Amino acid sequence: MTADTSPRKLRYAMVGGGRDAFIGAVHRKAIALDGQAELVAGALSSSAEKARASGRDLLLADDRNHGDWQSLLDDELKRPAHERIDFVSIVTPNHVHFPVAQAFVEAGFHVVCDKPLVHTREQADALVAAVARKGTVFAVTYNYTGYPMVREARELVRSGRLGEIRKVVVEYNQGWLSTEIESEGNKQAAWRSDPAMSGAAGAVGDIGSHAENLVATVTGLEIESLCADLSSLVPGRALDDDGSLLLRFQGGARGVLIASQVNTGLENDLRLRVSGTLGTLVWRQEQPSELLHLPHDGPRRILTRGSPWLGESAKRASRLPSGHPEGFIEAFANVYGGVVADIRARLAGLAADPLEADYPRVEDGARGVRFIERTVASAKSEAKWTAW
Ligand SMILES: NC(=O)c1ccc[n+]([C@@H]2O[C@H](COP(=O)([O-])OP(=O)(O)OC[C@H]3O[C@@H](n4cnc5c(N)ncnc54)[C@H](O)[C@@H]3O)[C@@H](O)[C@H]2O)c1
Repeated sequence: MTADTSPRKLRYAMVGGGRDAFIGAVHRKAIALDGQAELVAGALSSSAEKARASGRDLLLADDRNHGDWQSLLDDELKRPAHERIDFVSIVTPNHVHFPVAQAFVEAGFHVVCDKPLVHTREQADALVAAVARKGTVFAVTYNYTGYPMVREARELVRSGRLGEIRKVVVEYNQGWLSTEIESEGNKQAAWRSDPAMSGAAGAVGDIGSHAENLVATVTGLEIESLCADLSSLVPGRALDDDGSLLLRFQGGARGVLIASQVNTGLENDLRLRVSGTLGTLVWRQEQPSELLHLPHDGPRRILTRGSPWLGESAKRASRLPSGHPEGFIEAFANVYGGVVADIRARLAGLAADPLEADYPRVEDGARGVRFIERTVASAKSEAKWTAW
């Protein structure tokens, strides 16, 4: 590889994220926040017509505004290096992740893919192997890891401030699927409740995967075994909309994970509590700038984003002084910041600074797929239930 010594804006393409889509627009705003990369190509929707209309909305050049992702890839491979994209962002429903990710990695492109990574463990293993073989950057947008106070929590655990971790409780509660809106034309609900598109799980795959990743990121604990109770509380729904799990971690810590999309009135209530021998941390996504530190033998502290006494990782993830709210898009931008740093280092022929290239990898995505698979397997087995 020839070293690229003159920094420039990176170029990216997007697959999915067309008109009326949810998360693609968030990805684009997050990428735009730091001005490090620009959208130059896309295959933005499942229908060619809507894909092109969506690309026109975003002012894509006609010859880079494609009706399907295969044409996008073919076209990129024909382009000279100074025009070609540096990475592709995949923001389609889950069933499309694997073929697109696999094809772009095999063609040597860096990839950012939303969660859950793919449908099966075999697909996840194949992707991990392809990324290792091709040496590409591969990020999975577990965007909650980008919050400064999540990074501070990770640092406090790593530095031993909590002592030995003994108990973790993570909850991801939403209420938007409390009624059968998938039958009333809600597109996001429709594919999420269809096993062919969503995968083997509903709520556990959609938001439980975020909860699993948050626990793994902050604590570094590895799940040893789990016991899951999954239900479809809205009658007729094919996939779970409510899940409660007990977790046993290697080393003895215990955990509880809740993922539910039928908690009426709740919005995006992701919350984490980690207790060690020396104290507890509490973080909530809906108040992301605060991290509660409750030491066993001292006064309680509310740590706030943007404060000078935070660790390096949290400081770097913050753009504004304390008291000026930052949120979801900034956290997402921090994941992309890590990806950009890694790609830039590779273009310059250097090893990336790990503090900068801080983003969830393909292996994290693969562990998420395993989590979903084991959760569904546990829920199917009634072995742990004692009749009343
Ligand atoms: N990280 C997060 O916080 C977060 C939040 C929401 C969704 N997601 C994930 O993002 C993905 C998309 O979710 P969403 O809610 O934005 O869905 P959505 O239904 O709003 O949007 C999906 C988009 O993909 C397009 N699409 C479908 N098939 C395609 C294909 N073959 N080629 C090109 N485009 C195609 C659709 O036309 C649509 O534009 C899912 O994997 C979901 O799990 C992540």
